[in-house]
Amino acid sequence: MTAALQIAIDGPASAGKSTVAKLVAKQLRYTYCDTGAMYRALTLAAMQKQIDLHDEPAVLAVLAEITISFKPGEPEQQVFVNEQEVTQAIRQPDVTNNVSTVAALGGVRQQLVQHQQKIAAAGGIVMDGRDIGTAVLPNAAVKIFLVASVAERAQRRYAENIRKGINTPLAVLQQEIEVRDKKDSTRAVSPLTQAKDAVLVDTTALSIEQVVAKIIAITNEKQKDMNK
Ligand code: CDP
Ligand code: CDP
Repeated sequence: MTAALQIAIDGPASAGKSTVAKLVAKQLRYTYCDTGAMYRALTLAAMQKQIDLHDEPAVLAVLAEITISFKPGEPEQQVFVNEQEVTQAIRQPDVTNNVSTVAALGGVRQQLVQHQQKIAAAGGIVMDGRDIGTAVLPNAAVKIFLVASVAERAQRRYAENIRKGINTPLAVLQQEIEVRDKKDSTRAVSPLTQAKDAVLVDTTALSIEQVVAKIIAITNEKQKDMNK
């Protein structure tokens, strides 16, 4: 019998987490949960209300007023804040450049982590973010820490932007990624860090398909060990 597992994928910005997590979930018929989208959705809602993003009580008041939800969709799942579809809006540069400020607020993390744990309780799950293996699903059977050189990650984001018709210089993207990684890795609450029992996967020279195959192989090994 193959039990449904929890698969936690963490790592820095643009390492390929959401792309591979989605494909792994599809292959295993598990649920996929993009936790970054939750922090982004709250950031967008707070920005729309023109709130100081360092003001934790004010940001928590916004969080209390909204419901963040997902609907399955192709090529990506849709993200909603209440009834408003925000799938594209949460990827805009101003949200990207402010999200780490909101994500550093301890009270915000506490509530979003609870929400994420409820989603995970439903069965087989692939969840990606920054603190999944360390804080959200500390008992996940499979933990992956996905990395790639910063130059490669900036190049990937650059290519993705060009596909979408956005033309931000490569050097600017690399700097934005470095600033966000630094904020995410140095915050006091649940900083981005590799869990002790996570497998490090360096994707710098790997294709998406190769990374997916690697994670599926690690998961299959784990299943075998659990069935012994
Ligand atoms: O996809 P990308 O790497 O650009 O980022 P994301 O996964 O959408 O996450 C956006 C931001 O949310 C991160 O830079 C973190 O500040 C925050 N985040 C977090 O703190 N914890 C998570 N579990 C997921 C995201
Ligand atoms: O979620 P995260 O920020 O870690 O990264 P992503 O949004 O999944 O991936 C960033 C970009 O890198 C996407 O355009 C992917 O198609 C691309 N990618 C790649 O070229 N090679 C990989 N091995 C993984 C992702």
